[in-house]
This record gives sequence, structure tokens and C-alpha cells, in this order.
Amino acid sequence: MSASEVRIYPDLVEASRAAAEAFVRIGEDSIAARGWFSVALSGGSTPNRMYADLALNEFSSRLDWRHAHFFWGDERSVPPDDPQSNFRMANDALLSHVQVPPENIHRIQAEKTPKEAASDYEHLLRGFEWGELTGFDLALLGLGTNGHTASLFPYSDALNERSRWCVDTWVEELKAARITLTPPFLNRSANVIFLVVGSEKASILSEILHGQYDPDRLPAQLIEPKNGRLIWLVDRDAARGLKEKE
Ligand code: 6PG
Repeated sequence: MSASEVRIYPDLVEASRAAAEAFVRIGEDSIAARGWFSVALSGGSTPNRMYADLALNEFSSRLDWRHAHFFWGDERSVPPDDPQSNFRMANDALLSHVQVPPENIHRIQAEKTPKEAASDYEHLLRGFEWGELTGFDLALLGLGTNGHTASLFPYSDALNERSRWCVDTWVEELKAARITLTPPFLNRSANVIFLVVGSEKASILSEILHGQYDPDRLPAQLIEPKNGRLIWLVDRDAARGLKEKE
């Protein structure tokens, strides 16, 4: 594992606020340095509170949202108005409350077939002007209890993808197709932040950070930004296993 920083907070509320603060600081710095800020959002349930925090004036007033570009680390194979949609979750909690130009919201068009959606997103990513950076200023990620992140699930073909930046993948345990960015592209990010909360994540978090390196079984271990920072923002319950180790 590359050097990573673990910051522990009392609960979801504080961990979400810390994630919102980190988001805004990276955004401010990126816009000041290069005039724009690119971020890949994660899905699932954990980040919802953080996205809602970002829409609060204490955070939203600090960013010039006109210069922010939003991407997604993964998407379910559903239309954007589906309750399962990662885009819909972020749009409801954050994007519909801040002034991001619609053309800066680069959602995965998961209403298409998984192969088409992945191919189109790959084309979009490769056509984006990253400047001297080669990837996102910030990639937000979550962690599943089985060690997956984005939609990089254990033992899936997506884990071994070395050239494509976005692929479609079948998740047998969910009996569902997903579209996901791949480790090579996620690892181009200047900053990767995992937000992990809850006692149900304690065991897997300890395995990911302190266990054997076994990325086929623990895909989150594949996330090692080549030239970027890797930060874990976790709550006390999720960190319980870590304390026992340290
Ligand atoms: C998704 C996410 C996924 C998520 C983890 C954790 O599409 O579900 O991108 O990688 O981050 O499954 O989900 P929770 O936050 O709901 O535990």
C-alpha cells in the first residue's frame, strides 16, 4: 500500500464535515492554481450527508462552482432519475443546490447499455483537457463491506484492466451490471479520499489497511495514487479494528 493518511472522527456527522472541508480546500486550491476543479463523486449512501453539507452556505459560499467539473467514479446501470442512481443522489443532495454549469456535470449515461455507457464515458474522459494534471483533482471513494470500491468488486475482470479508463462490469453478487472507472485512471488523481463510516466497515477497513496485500479479494487495495495523496476519513466505529492494531 502507498503511504496513506487515516483521520478518525467521532461519527458520520463529523466525518462528513471533514470530507466537505477537504473537498472545498482542494477545490479552492485547484481553481486558484489552474482555473478549474475536477472531482469524481462516489455513490452509495455514506457520502449523502457530505454532499448535503457542501450545499450548506458555510461550504458552498467558498467555491466558485462555475469552475467545478463533476464526474462519477461509478454508476449503476439505471436511468438518471432512478432511486439507485449515483447521479440522482448527488444531484438531489448537492448539484441542484449550487451553480455548477450543466455542461460541467459529466454524468455516466447509464440509461444506455453498460457497454455503450462505459465506451462513451471513456471517450469523454479521454477528450477532457486535464492540463498538466493527468486525472482528477479529487476522487471520492467509498468502501463496501466486501472490500469493493467504486464498482471494482472482488475477483472481477475490471480489476485487471490496464488500458481502459472506464469499463462495464457484471456484479454476480448483485446480479447487476455496473459502469466503473478503473484503477489505472483513479490512480492518476491528485487526491483520493475514502469516506468510510459505521461499525459494519470496521473489519474490512482493518483488512484493507493492515491485512495482507490481496487486491483480487480486496479491490480497494488497488487504489494507490501514483503522484497523489491518499486520505481515509473514517468514523470511530469504522476505525475500531485499526485501534486494536495500533
Ligand atoms: C456505489 C458506490 C460504492 C460505495 C460502496 C459503499 O455505487 O455503491 O460507488 O463503491 O461507495 O458500496 O457504499 P455505502 O456508502 O452505501 O456503504
